[in-house]
Amino acid sequence: MMSVAIDGPGGAGKSTVARELARRFGFVYVDTGAIYRTVGLAAKRAGADPKSSAEMAPLLERIRVELRYEGGEQRMLLDGEDVTGLLRTPELSMYASDVSALPEVRAFLLGMQRQAAERHSVVMDGRDIGTVVLPGAQVKIFLTASKEERARRRYEELRARGESQSYGEVLADMERRDGNDSGRAVAPLRPAEDSVVLDSTGLSVEEVVARIGELIIEKGKG
Ligand code: DC
Repeated sequence: MMSVAIDGPGGAGKSTVARELARRFGFVYVDTGAIYRTVGLAAKRAGADPKSSAEMAPLLERIRVELRYEGGEQRMLLDGEDVTGLLRTPELSMYASDVSALPEVRAFLLGMQRQAAERHSVVMDGRDIGTVVLPGAQVKIFLTASKEERARRRYEELRARGESQSYGEVLADMERRDGNDSGRAVAPLRPAEDSVVLDSTGLSVEEVVARIGELIIEKGKG
């Protein structure tokens, strides 16, 4: 069994690349951002302050967050309701980033992420997969790109889905989220010491996939 960890800031192309790698190698793709987004949604629905341990800790006691696979696709369940389609909005990006800075939330979600990699070979993307969740992953990638390119990609992605944020708003959100995710005390976004840092600025999805694919094949031989 093999684990491939892909970490990096928002808009670096992690999910596109991870999904395609999983398809090619027959691995399971685990989107850990969706798990944090589900907790963000729970905070929003409960009217809880996503930055407050005092408000979030009791909420975690009450909610049930589940990860399921249907037809090879990851689904997120909140208290039994499939909320997958509600998670990819700018508002929930910020909620997710806020709740993810709380140690209680990270501890609450750790077991779920590790379990996903116990039974299957996985490509898992997130912020702390190579450093905290799967420190033993055979392949660790830190995927990044210039801030402007990441904002441009995210802007196009949102526009394709009919969201109405301007490029300037997307860039501002991205800077705030980068600061949040890299500056927090617990499991901050940073490359694992044994990771391969890949800057995808100016590279196509196919080029990035091919490069990581080579690393996976190499490890598979060893
Ligand atoms: O990858 P994403 O944009 O869906 O992630 C949303 C937020 O969740 C991100 O800003 C930080 C948090 N997150 C995290 O802290 N650790 C992870 N492994 C994945 C996401």
